[in-house]
Amino acid sequence: MRKKVIIDCDPGIDDSLALILALKSPELEILGITTVSGNVPALQGAKNALKVLKLLNRLDVPVYAGEEVPLVRELVTAEDTHGDDGLGATFMSEVSEAIIKNGAVDFILSTIEKEESISIIALGPLTNIARAMEKDLQTFSKAQEIVSMGGTFKSHGNCSPVAEFNYWVDPHAVKYVFDHLTIPMAMVGLDVTREIVLTPNYIELLRQMNTELSRFIVDIIRFYVDFHWKQERTLGCVINDPLAVAYFMDRTLCSGFDSYVDVVTEGIAIGQTVVDCGNFYKHKSNCFVLDKVQSHKFMEIFLTRLFPEFTEDIALVLKDNKYSY
Ligand code: BDR
Ligand code: CA
Repeated sequence: MRKKVIIDCDPGIDDSLALILALKSPELEILGITTVSGNVPALQGAKNALKVLKLLNRLDVPVYAGEEVPLVRELVTAEDTHGDDGLGATFMSEVSEAIIKNGAVDFILSTIEKEESISIIALGPLTNIARAMEKDLQTFSKAQEIVSMGGTFKSHGNCSPVAEFNYWVDPHAVKYVFDHLTIPMAMVGLDVTREIVLTPNYIELLRQMNTELSRFIVDIIRFYVDFHWKQERTLGCVINDPLAVAYFMDRTLCSGFDSYVDVVTEGIAIGQTVVDCGNFYKHKSNCFVLDKVQSHKFMEIFLTRLFPEFTEDIALVLKDNKYSY
């Protein structure tokens, strides 16, 4: 049976890769894509989601624009990382064949109410999720689980020394979710996503494939690769969000532990996740924190799902580990 999901995201370059992975995975039934302000404002993210859907001929999947601003903080977006359009400054033409609907929060709640066993894969700030819980916790609690890309355990931050971007943009939403959650949540944080790197040799493989999809990916990641070089002198780019989708489908990809997790909502460490792995606070666990990943296995799944027609070439490049981080 296919697993029913809502993908809540802020596309975003790596969100788009995550959407492509999900759409190329037959075990998922994507009931809708909801967007939230993060990398770019929610409406721009919704426009980008439509571009991905059109590319894959899946404009049947509804797209809902969601919360425009975080619960308390002023919105800070990340066009420096994802480009002014959120898709690596490619400025692809907008999709006119489908409309963007409003009301992501209501869509999330009504879908959970209507359908059995809905899971949420959250790839952006948790604003939509917190607002949905705030509006109707009883209904929200009928969902099966949340897999959230965000936070960090031992790894350093990516937008402050200690904070991961999604949780830093809206720490109050994270706090609300952690404090009220009654369903399982997995935190797919930087400890594991940092290991997921599209290295120059994978990018070259995509270039050699030269299909419509591989050209789309090569085009949108160019800006992101430049950002990684300028920012941290690494070649290639870290693609965080697809790991959350892959982990949702295959639990053997990552391991972790149950823990109580809190988040800092003000001051110098704003957005930092505090993972009580030693149970100092004696609180009940509210999260499953991932801390190990089989990155090679992820890459195999990711590339072969997207490009099954190149399985042999992919195996060849995967075997040659010397270019991988
Ligand atoms: C997260 O922040 C965003 O820039 C990415 O899309 C990802 O969801 C990584 O910290
Ligand atoms: Ca994202």
